[in-house]
Amino acid sequence: AESQITIHPSYRVGPLNRRLFGTFVEHMGRCVYTGIYEPGHATADAHGFRGDVAELVRELGATIVRYPGGNFVSNYKWEDGVGPKEQRPRRLDLAWRSIETNQVGTDDFLAWCERQGIEPMLAVNLGTRGLEDAVEYLDYVNGSGTTLADQRAANGREEPWGVKVWCLGNEMDGPWQMGHMTAAEYGRVAEEVGNAFRRFDDSLELVACGSSNRLMPTFGAWEREVLERSIHVVDHISAHAYYEPIGGDTTSYLACAEDMDRFITSVAATADAVAAARKVDKLVTISFDEWNVWFQERFDGENAIQVQEAPPLIQDVYDVADAVVVGSLLITLMRHTDRVAMACQAQLVNIIAPIRTEPDGPAWRQTIFHPFALTSRYARGDVLDLRIASPTIDTAAFGPVDQIWGTATLDDATGDLAIFCVNRSERDDLTTSVDLAPLGNVEIVEHLMVHEDDPSLTNVAGDERVGPKPGRSALDGSTLTLTLPAVSWHCIRLS
Ligand code: AHR
Repeated sequence: AESQITIHPSYRVGPLNRRLFGTFVEHMGRCVYTGIYEPGHATADAHGFRGDVAELVRELGATIVRYPGGNFVSNYKWEDGVGPKEQRPRRLDLAWRSIETNQVGTDDFLAWCERQGIEPMLAVNLGTRGLEDAVEYLDYVNGSGTTLADQRAANGREEPWGVKVWCLGNEMDGPWQMGHMTAAEYGRVAEEVGNAFRRFDDSLELVACGSSNRLMPTFGAWEREVLERSIHVVDHISAHAYYEPIGGDTTSYLACAEDMDRFITSVAATADAVAAARKVDKLVTISFDEWNVWFQERFDGENAIQVQEAPPLIQDVYDVADAVVVGSLLITLMRHTDRVAMACQAQLVNIIAPIRTEPDGPAWRQTIFHPFALTSRYARGDVLDLRIASPTIDTAAFGPVDQIWGTATLDDATGDLAIFCVNRSERDDLTTSVDLAPLGNVEIVEHLMVHEDDPSLTNVAGDERVGPKPGRSALDGSTLTLTLPAVSWHCIRLS
């Protein structure tokens, strides 16, 4: 079938926002304990954090990390996690019915972020706690000249941590959340906490909770009501989305980037409508701070979890098709680089994660690791606004969608062009041509692809069978021809 990608260097969405390559560490399952942190591990550093995981996190290229939850934060006492480790209490975390040992807490995590060179973003508990505790937490982390700042210094950190981005609670629209609220209740809390945080430091970036997914019955109305109350004090509104082949509908699943695209567009429209009605000249941006593939149909629910420390919870194993979907979701985020302020793949290690670990054993890359790492590594400069003409695929969930989904970045400083695209058909291979004449003289540097004849192939510990491999492309004059097999993700680098 015929298809064509049109690229022109003057058509730009905007500068690539590096915070789109964010990740998420929650005290959940084995993300923290035996994930990033395992003091007895052969590769553990002096602080008890795994060196093999640290190395893979660097290779992944994550730029910002959300912590400590997630649902966990809504029943978290941050004080439990600071100070001498032997004095830290053991608690029952009600979000995930797990024993929280508090051996990792705020200072330990922020120090890890500093060593990794990743910007942290913190969430406050607005479920079982509220304004007073949130302000004290902020003071402990960022304050100076106060008793809480002295306490932080006594715990080993003199300098304020200077955390810029703060999430005002987590998924407060969800009935599963400890302390779940109505939009009116939460809007008021977000306004009050936002006000206090701004008084503390007006340069903070505050994230109000948006919807837990686009299918929530309150979606849309929630964003409107929350922002009507809090738009003057918040900068971003969150969005969360997890995708899976619902009821075995792989066709729609492969096209789920469409859902994320519509999600972003409708939240942006809602925020703009509130700004217009409130007559404030403010562009609220989106913090897509949880997204990924998650086979929720396989999860038996929180109440079925056997209480224990670091349970092996939701350790989804991903295949080639899932990697293509992850790549397509990153493409959507980049296409909205002018409106998405940050995005966090949920989560980083073991729980629905690109990195897996064996306790006392190796760390390994899941299939979804690769599109993330390669996009973070090679997307540079400005995001270009492509025009893509391709056959359409009929999906039950989204109607007809383009078979090719893509984006590109152009770095004016180096002349590097990177094209990212997927063929999201289950069956149909495709070739596409790209007219590069408007870009002047360019050469192919590399074409990497994630694709296997069997899209259900996964990686396992000790056998990372799925990884990037050379793709097929040819440059004839200024016409680039790309071969895109069914269910494939591509990164084509030119210079
Ligand atoms: O990432 C797993 C969970 O998904 C988070 O704790 C919660 O915020 C979301 O529902």
